[in-house]
Amino acid sequence: MTAVGSFDLWMQQVQASVESALAAALPSTDTVPARLHDAMRYAVLGGGKRVRPLLVYAAGAVFDAPPSALARAAAAVEMIHAYSLVHDDLPCMDDDALRRGKATVHVHYDEATALLVGDALQAQAFAILADDLADEQAEGQADIAPQRQIAMLRLLAEAAGSRGMCGGQAIDLDSVGLALTLAQLEQMHRLKTGALLRAAVQLGALCGKMPDAAEEASLDAYAQAIGLAFQVVDDVLDATADSATLGKTAGKDAAANKPTYVTILGLQPSRELADRLRDDAHRAVAPFGAAAESLRALADLIVQRKA
Ligand code: IPE
Ligand code: IPE
Ligand code: MG
Ligand code: MG
Ligand code: MG
Repeated sequence: MTAVGSFDLWMQQVQASVESALAAALPSTDTVPARLHDAMRYAVLGGGKRVRPLLVYAAGAVFDAPPSALARAAAAVEMIHAYSLVHDDLPCMDDDALRRGKATVHVHYDEATALLVGDALQAQAFAILADDLADEQAEGQADIAPQRQIAMLRLLAEAAGSRGMCGGQAIDLDSVGLALTLAQLEQMHRLKTGALLRAAVQLGALCGKMPDAAEEASLDAYAQAIGLAFQVVDDVLDATADSATLGKTAGKDAAANKPTYVTILGLQPSRELADRLRDDAHRAVAPFGAAAESLRALADLIVQRKA
C-alpha cells in the first residue's frame, strides 16, 4: 500500500470512530426536549471533514496517546466547532442557508433552536472532556492524570473564548467593509479559526506523554501554520469554488463585503501563502520523524483541499 493509501485509510477510520463517538455522546432524539436534541444531532452528525478530530489523533500519535482519551478530546473539539458553525450561520452573523450540504439549523428548525443548539453543544463539549474525571479517577482507571485533564479543559475554554474563536468572530463582524491591514487580517484569522485548530493539536499531545519544551515549540509552530493556512484556503475557496462542492454558499465573503486574504492579498498570493505555511508546518514537525506522518499529510490536505 502506498503512503497516501495508508493515510486515506487512517483518515476513514478516525472519521468513522469520531462519528460513532459523537452519535453516542449526543442525547437521543427521544430524550426531552426532543426537538433540541434532534437539532443538535442534525448539526453535528453526518457531515463535515472532521479536520479538528483528525488533528487530535495525528498529534496524539506522536505522543503515544491512549485512544480512549483521544476519542473524548476529538469529540469535544468537534462539538465546539459544530456549535461555532451553527452560530456563524445565524442571520445576525453570516446569514447563511446552507451548511455541510444541508439547510442550516436556523432554517431547518428556527433561530431560537439554533442559538440553543450552540449553547448546548458548547456545554456538552466540556462535559465530554471531563467525562472520566470523577468515577474512573476514583477507581484508579483513568487514562489521563486529573491535572492533565484540567489543563485540557482550560485549553479548550481559552481557545473557544473571547481571546480565541469568539474573539475572532467579533473582529470578523466588526470588520465588514473595512480595509484591514495584513497584520489585522492575520490576527482575525488566527483567532476565529486558528485558535481551535491549534487547540486540537495541543489536546492530542496532552492526551499522551508529556512533550518537552522543544517538542512543544515544534508542535506549536506546526499548529500556528496550519491554523492560519486553513482560513486562508477557506477564503480562497469562498471566492473560487461553487456551493455544491463546498456544501455551503460560495461567494458569501464578497457579497457581505468581508475583508479576506483574497481581497487584501489577491488570489494567487493567497495560494502561495498557503503553500508556504504548509512548508512551515512540514519543517516544524521534521524532528518527530515518521511519527508525524499524519500531521504532515493533514497539512497537505488542509492546503490542497477542494472543499
Ligand atoms: C468551516 O470549517 C469554518 C471555518 C472555520 C473556516 P470546516 O471547513 O472545517 O467545516 P466542516 O467541519 O468541514 O464542515
Ligand atoms: C467561520 O469563518 C469561523 C467560525 C465558524 C468560527 P467563516 O464565516 O469564513 O466560515 P464559513 O465560510 O461560513 O464556513
Ligand atoms: Mg463567519
Ligand atoms: Mg460564515
Ligand atoms: Mg468562509
